[in-house]
Amino acid sequence: MIALPQNPNIHPNPTMDNDHHPNGTVEPTDHDHRTSKKPKLTGPISEPEIREEFSHHQPCIARINNGSFGSCPRSILAAQNAWQLRFLQQPDDFFFNTLRNGILHSRAAIKDIVNADHVDQISLVDNATTAAAIVLQKIGRRFASGNFRQNDAVIIFHCAYQAVKKSIEAYVTPLGGSVVEVQLPFPVHSDEGIISEFRKGLERGKLNGGRVRLAIIDHITSMPSVVLPVRELIRICREQGVDQVFVDGAHSIGSLHVDVKEIGADFYVSNLYKWFFSPPSVAFMYCKESNDVHHPVVSQEYGKGLPVESGWVGMRDYSPQLVVPAILEFVNRFEGGIEGIMRRNHEGVVKMGTMLVESWGTVLGSPPEMCASMVMVGLPSRLCVMSDDDALRLRSYLRVHHGIEVPVYYQALRNCDSDPRDKDGFITGYVRISQQVYNTVDDYHRLKTAINQLLEDKKNCSGLPKE
Ligand SMILES: Cc1ncc(COP(=O)(O)O)c(C=O)c1O
Repeated sequence: MIALPQNPNIHPNPTMDNDHHPNGTVEPTDHDHRTSKKPKLTGPISEPEIREEFSHHQPCIARINNGSFGSCPRSILAAQNAWQLRFLQQPDDFFFNTLRNGILHSRAAIKDIVNADHVDQISLVDNATTAAAIVLQKIGRRFASGNFRQNDAVIIFHCAYQAVKKSIEAYVTPLGGSVVEVQLPFPVHSDEGIISEFRKGLERGKLNGGRVRLAIIDHITSMPSVVLPVRELIRICREQGVDQVFVDGAHSIGSLHVDVKEIGADFYVSNLYKWFFSPPSVAFMYCKESNDVHHPVVSQEYGKGLPVESGWVGMRDYSPQLVVPAILEFVNRFEGGIEGIMRRNHEGVVKMGTMLVESWGTVLGSPPEMCASMVMVGLPSRLCVMSDDDALRLRSYLRVHHGIEVPVYYQALRNCDSDPRDKDGFITGYVRISQQVYNTVDDYHRLKTAINQLLEDKKNCSGLPKE
């Protein structure tokens, strides 16, 4: 028999293992909800304990890009490993008596956090890309069956994530659907500019007698990163007769308060691995109604509803889906739990962004209230970030020569009064800095110094080596 790691934080064996129906569906018990709402606390976490939790991070690297790949503390990796060992100990028993209820336990915990009405509205999928495939395949089927017509459209912001745009290209446009792209103003100063561009996009979507069948709205855009006024945009969608709304909240849970009822979308996805400390990879997907939504990978569970379909997509490692209770125990060791973590990360990242713009004489890409745990920081114009290639070259240079992981963004000039300037010219480059509990002030000072050093050496992007 394999000995499981002894760790008081780990509960690899939820107590309701046998609460499953013969047909494979599961019912949460009151006990499940009590457990997920009140995870066991093991005392407030100390600074040395935080460092220990992330001691597997490569030393001496300034990781200020939590937004891309997230981070997973050691106690949660240990919980994951315990689940993996448990499966390997007795797979047959695990499959029949443990897996479904373990996933249900995680879904019930997420349901409470995001304020869904029912656990059946919450599925656990691998990532936001999978959720996009689920929604866009559904829309594609409506075109294929003749329910939607040529000229009917999907509306999306121009900076929506590439995988999401490609999913429209794969599943919707070949069947006759068109796409309306709304330009996100950037740098952005207020919600109003975004709302007014979105309204214009909706009007374009109705040209030639078409209807907007789906709006895809990021909760936090990826690049450039901005928190969008989702509730107001969805309200406008309803008023303008848009059929359905999918919110891509890939970055949201753990960095923004998410209340799916208040937000009011038909579909909402958020990765848990980015800001909610899960191992790669798991996301929750909320579906207000379950009508004709299917996982893109079809298994024997097809037709039993998305939560069950997503709970078995063939043989694979399901441990990331099972560690949500362990995540709750981890975050509840911080003052204020996950809300406290969000607040501190937000305040910290704004403070560091402000420190950088003061040093470089530039501007933030959005006001503090339009960012969560990431903020866009203007780079000095003398660096001459003039293309996406330049941005990538600077990003590689910072990683290879200074051990700094940070994404760099190029924003072409709009040739209007609002193009931002510093004392030497127009600002066309931005870094997207993230803050997570493991970051220190020194991480951001290293970035400040590396950029100031380039300026002192009179170097710009075109002079940087191609890595
Ligand atoms: C806004 C947005 N949507 C979707 C995705 C895709 O997420 P994943 O790679 O986990 O599918 C990302 C990834 O960073 C993102 O930022």
